[in-house]
Amino acid sequence: MTERTLVLVKPDGVQRLLVGRILARYEERGLRIVGLKLLKADRDLAERHYAVHKGKPFFEGLVDFITSGPLVAAALEGPGAIAMVRTMNGATKPLEAAPGTIRGDLAVEMSQNLVHASDSPESAATELSIWFAADELTTYGREIDRWVLGPNA
Ligand code: PPS
Repeated sequence: MTERTLVLVKPDGVQRLLVGRILARYEERGLRIVGLKLLKADRDLAERHYAVHKGKPFFEGLVDFITSGPLVAAALEGPGAIAMVRTMNGATKPLEAAPGTIRGDLAVEMSQNLVHASDSPESAATELSIWFAADELTTYGREIDRWVLGPNA
């Protein structure tokens, strides 16, 4: 089933100049970028995003980190996108992340684990609405069919 999910390339990914390489992995897998922005999140936005973790010992540090510099928010679309992106990101703790995953290849620190992705259809819907207005998300068809096969494809 076609799904949409939210990915954040966190401030460490932006600082390390990994945005293009990380987004390329999702595109190469076949996911479409249907929303994309670079921004510096304020505390209100970050606290809404991580609201389910409010009260946990790492919450304040997590909000400090995610607001520490620019990040990239991406809405990705494709078959089974929510689980696929979680698998591609790898385990939350980079030391437990399998080689071949984004964290398993590129991260070592729990507090700098490069990417966030929605973990369920419910969180994807909530998170996409936190980071994107409805008119900031696009849809597009298989234009390539028309380009390759002609106007009657
Ligand atoms: S929980 O309690 O099991 O639901 O938490 P978890 O899913 O492991 O992590 C939720 C998000 O918090 C981040 N996290 C941390 N950041 C910094 N330091 C510590 N100790 C820490 N523990 C958890 C973790 O990376 C998750 O962030 P996202 O952006 O969702 O990956």
